[in-house]
Amino acid sequence: MKIAVARETREGEARVAMVPELVGKLTGLGYEVLVEPDVGLRALIPDDEYVAAGAAVEGAAVDRADVVVSVQPLRVDQIRRLGDGAATISFLPTGQEPEVVRALRDAGATSFAMELVPRISRAQSMDALSSQALVSGYRCAIVAAGMLRRFFPLNMTAAGTVPPAEVVVLGAGVAGLQAIATAKRLGAVVKAYDVRAAAAEEIRSMGAQAIDLELDTLEGAGGYAREMTEERAALQMERLAPYVAAADALITTAAVPGRQAPLLVTAAMVEQMSPGSVVVDLAAETGGNVEGAVPGEVVRIGNAQVWGGSNVPSQMPGPASKLYAQNVVNLVQLMTASDDGVGGFAPDFDDEIVVGSCVTHDGVIRHEPTRLAIEGE
Ligand code: NAI
Repeated sequence: MKIAVARETREGEARVAMVPELVGKLTGLGYEVLVEPDVGLRALIPDDEYVAAGAAVEGAAVDRADVVVSVQPLRVDQIRRLGDGAATISFLPTGQEPEVVRALRDAGATSFAMELVPRISRAQSMDALSSQALVSGYRCAIVAAGMLRRFFPLNMTAAGTVPPAEVVVLGAGVAGLQAIATAKRLGAVVKAYDVRAAAAEEIRSMGAQAIDLELDTLEGAGGYAREMTEERAALQMERLAPYVAAADALITTAAVPGRQAPLLVTAAMVEQMSPGSVVVDLAAETGGNVEGAVPGEVVRIGNAQVWGGSNVPSQMPGPASKLYAQNVVNLVQLMTASDDGVGGFAPDFDDEIVVGSCVTHDGVIRHEPTRLAIEGE
């Protein structure tokens, strides 16, 4: 059985789906590992390291493989060249990539979407949304610290005292908590808000102050956030406004599963911030938590510089790739019939992780919401 690691070709993608140090895990499971030339170049990993780890560099790796792993979905032309019954494992935002899903269906490929891996305890080691959110959260805090032209920590010197920066974080999921932890480590005074009931305690456990807006918590299925009503959104904005105005740095990471990111901060709220303040919107790509934020750009709103995130994990491609590759290896291991690889790649469709993450199989779109969106009733 051959596993190919595809070279990423999408603009802005610097990660790679496998790192040399994990190639041995795949060969240990009985797979032959093929990598496309320069597969890890943008993550600063030369081909030699893959070869030293036991992989072969091969131009036609994707066409010859039983399983192809990548970060971004394969291109349609690559999918058309897949071998019979080949499987793919990648991020696969089906709502944004209907043509890729159709191509996978028509090619008879078995495709798995990393973002659909169910968030159950057994699947935590395969949870690429969390591993990449960790990278994004850290990066957001570092970006805010880099853009802010003042200290994060308190400095008491013979020449006087420099007060610490005040950082406000909105959304305290995996990324938000990591942003809080990072800003705290840099010495800022951090305040944070999230709509989930459990969040206040999690925020406090990071050493930050949990902002209490005296609003009901908003929790839906599985402990995830629910969408706000218009009325609730307006009230939340009104009560958050003074915290935003007082912040030197505002970091927003709020998201609601399956929906556009909620708008939490209007341009008018940003306009109340002091000269030199910075805003980092991690959700800019998925609709934006901050009105006017543009993914991949820094725009000025009032006195603030507003940074919009665009494929943020890719800005730290080395560690992001390593974590993603570990998630992929764990998923492949789950789908390998026996640990010595004798049974090869054989996903068990009775396993909820396999069923949950499968998008297409045997010419059929298995993920029902995607099937409905693409094929209708
Ligand atoms: P996410 O990336 O989907 O969203 C980020 C945060 O935004 C969430 O904490 C959410 O509550 C918050 N948010 C949504 N609307 C908001 C609003 N209007 N105002 C302020 N904040 C708002 O979140 P992530 O990182 O996926 O974590 C969310 C939940 O998932 C948590 O309960 C976490 O413990 C759980 N989780 C479970 C995992 C597992 O079991 N394998 C793995 C990772 C997270």
